[in-house]
Amino acid sequence: MMADERILFVGHTGQIGGAELILLDVVAGRESSSAFLFEDGPLAKALAERKLKLIISRWGRGLSRFRRDSKWLAAVPLAGRLALIVEELALAAKPHDLVYANSQKAFVLAAIASVFVRRPLIWHLHDIMSAEHFGGLQRRTQVMLANARATRVIVPSRAAAEAFIEAGGRRELVEIVPNGLALPPEPRSAAELRRSLGLPDGPLVGVFSRLAAWKGQHVLIEALAGLPGVGCIVVGDALFGEQAYAAELKQMVRERGLGDRVRFLGHRSDVPRLMKAVDVMVHPSTDPEPFGRTLVEAMLAGVPVIATNAGAAPDILEGGRAGTLVPPNDAPALARAIAAVLARPETLDGQLAYASRRAAAQYGLTQMLEAIGLVIRKLQTGAAA
Ligand code: UDP
Ligand code: GLC
Repeated sequence: MMADERILFVGHTGQIGGAELILLDVVAGRESSSAFLFEDGPLAKALAERKLKLIISRWGRGLSRFRRDSKWLAAVPLAGRLALIVEELALAAKPHDLVYANSQKAFVLAAIASVFVRRPLIWHLHDIMSAEHFGGLQRRTQVMLANARATRVIVPSRAAAEAFIEAGGRRELVEIVPNGLALPPEPRSAAELRRSLGLPDGPLVGVFSRLAAWKGQHVLIEALAGLPGVGCIVVGDALFGEQAYAAELKQMVRERGLGDRVRFLGHRSDVPRLMKAVDVMVHPSTDPEPFGRTLVEAMLAGVPVIATNAGAAPDILEGGRAGTLVPPNDAPALARAIAAVLARPETLDGQLAYASRRAAAQYGLTQMLEAIGLVIRKLQTGAAA
């Protein structure tokens, strides 16, 4: 169904991470809408393919690398450019009924622009606004702007909602809309897939997240050192300026003599398929995960999941009924959990079937799109009334 609301979707990055994959689903069929991006990149191309009118800021290039835990002071030299983007945003918002900011940086500038061109403003907040993820001043500024300017704040999990409210965000702004995914059913053909990737036949684990320190790939590598004979694929790349971490991971693998067991596959566009090649999907985030699409992807793929017990993971895995939960940042505990799953895979059959039913029932794409569509329509009706 075509939606005819004229929405200005705003994003800060041109790269495609989980939040941008959600955005690409939200914009589908919204051809009367536009997208404003701070910088060009694969996301711009994907949005144009969905027939949105595209506006790329003249001033935003490279801002996505401004780290979210940086002090605001570091933004002072950028102040002139930020002001110019606010001006661009205010102009871009004019012919639209509603503005939808898909990240915290996008929201901050859209909120300031909304002082000049007043439109209902949705913030789809894909982050956990806690001290682990953001500096104190950043949290205070974002919450202050949200309370003053946001009409709704959509979050993907209870954990993200609680962190926003704890940081001072107004509870009545918050709508929890879990991320939703639709994956084509694919038969599990691990052996064939492994052969095509040149992977060995032995026990194999995988991690499928962009390379970033808080995603915790280093904890898995540490755990592997204590699991002789277990291979690992590391899928994902440093998308948001975490190249130093990527280099550290590779060095860690060399130093621990794991070069023949750990394969870095870089960014891949066939993650759900690749997941079917592994015996266990590990999600080792050291900081609370706001949602974690890869958890649901693995559940749908019928692969056992081991994830850290923080953020949204305990909800998605239903406290351990749909997967194994381990403490964050604890390589020995992770190694024990991996060994246990690899030793007795048949005992997990019930858990796997339950996990894939749960993922399909709770985290479907249609449900997410309906819930977000409802938030948008309610605002439109409210604005028209
Ligand atoms: N992903 C991908 N290629 C990769 C690594 C990850 O397409 O090489 C996808 C992955 O399948 C998932 C998304 O990127 O759908 C990451 O979303 P998630 O919510 O797990 O984490 P984020 O990176 O957004 O924090
Ligand atoms: C963010 C979060 C991730 C979430 C994704 C989509 O990138 O890190 O946990 O799944 O957004 O909401």
